[in-house]
Amino acid sequence: MGARPRVFATRRLPGAALERLAGAVDLAVWPRPEAPSPGALADGCRAAEGLLCLLSDRIDADLLAAAPRLRAISSCSVGLDHVDLAAATARGIPVGFTPGVLTETTAELALGLLFAAARRIVEADREVRAGAWTEAWDPTGLLGRDLHGATLGVIGLGAIGRAVATRAGALGMRILGWSRSRRAVPGVESVELDALLERSDFLSVHVALTPETRGLLGPRALGRVRRGAILVNTARGEIVDEAALADALRSGWLAGAALDVFACEPLPAGSPLLGVPNLILTPHIGSATVATRARMADLAVDNLLAGLAGRPMPHCANPAEGS
Ligand code: DGY
Repeated sequence: MGARPRVFATRRLPGAALERLAGAVDLAVWPRPEAPSPGALADGCRAAEGLLCLLSDRIDADLLAAAPRLRAISSCSVGLDHVDLAAATARGIPVGFTPGVLTETTAELALGLLFAAARRIVEADREVRAGAWTEAWDPTGLLGRDLHGATLGVIGLGAIGRAVATRAGALGMRILGWSRSRRAVPGVESVELDALLERSDFLSVHVALTPETRGLLGPRALGRVRRGAILVNTARGEIVDEAALADALRSGWLAGAALDVFACEPLPAGSPLLGVPNLILTPHIGSATVATRARMADLAVDNLLAGLAGRPMPHCANPAEGS
């Protein structure tokens, strides 16, 4: 039997996937809860043939140069904006990712944030805890907005955007959709981005972060959004210009927003977003359920083992290398 391939995993993962991996490879796991620094990541990868990483690990050309033996990368994420795919492909390294298994879970969080922002749930909880619930039933207190009968604009009609559209349709919302590929989706009226911004009462962001979508919702786009709309972003922080969003919320142009993703994660302690009114903040928990995180870890390990064995990865982002 030949030597087992050396693998570096940048974090402990939930479920039993890492035990399965450890049964097949010579595994080193970064022991701390926080991400390794770029230097520690490079050290971990120096002798590794396989890398199991997360979306918070930057896998760029410098890292690949520090990892001469690397021949399979697997990210426990559906997004791959943290990986220089072109550099990996140039080295002939397949890159695995985890689409499908987190679709419904992330769609549920987007819906949860829509409800929370529309019905001011976080604000209401704060009021009760602060002892500010003084009227038994206040006919004018904490009035929110109905989802049923309102129009939801879904920006990006990939699997998660479509799952949000299906659920929102079942709530009685009218659905507008925009995707760069002009994808036709049953139950969704496909429109240009500007029309979607102008006609939607609620907006939910589901495009991948690419050079084309970075800053997609900047000052111009937010200026076109219908006055009083509510925005939810569970995709990637850099798609929405945070300063422009803060201005739109402070001026009352947007009635509310909920962000699960940020340009800089974790959100720095002094972030101006912390003081913005009508803004709900959650710490990138779109896929954070017990079952889904275990499925992601399993799929990430399946991808890595396939790549190391020279087999097609079940989900490979640069298929010429991995299938
Ligand atoms: C991903 O996998 O890219 C998600 O953002 C994790 O929730």
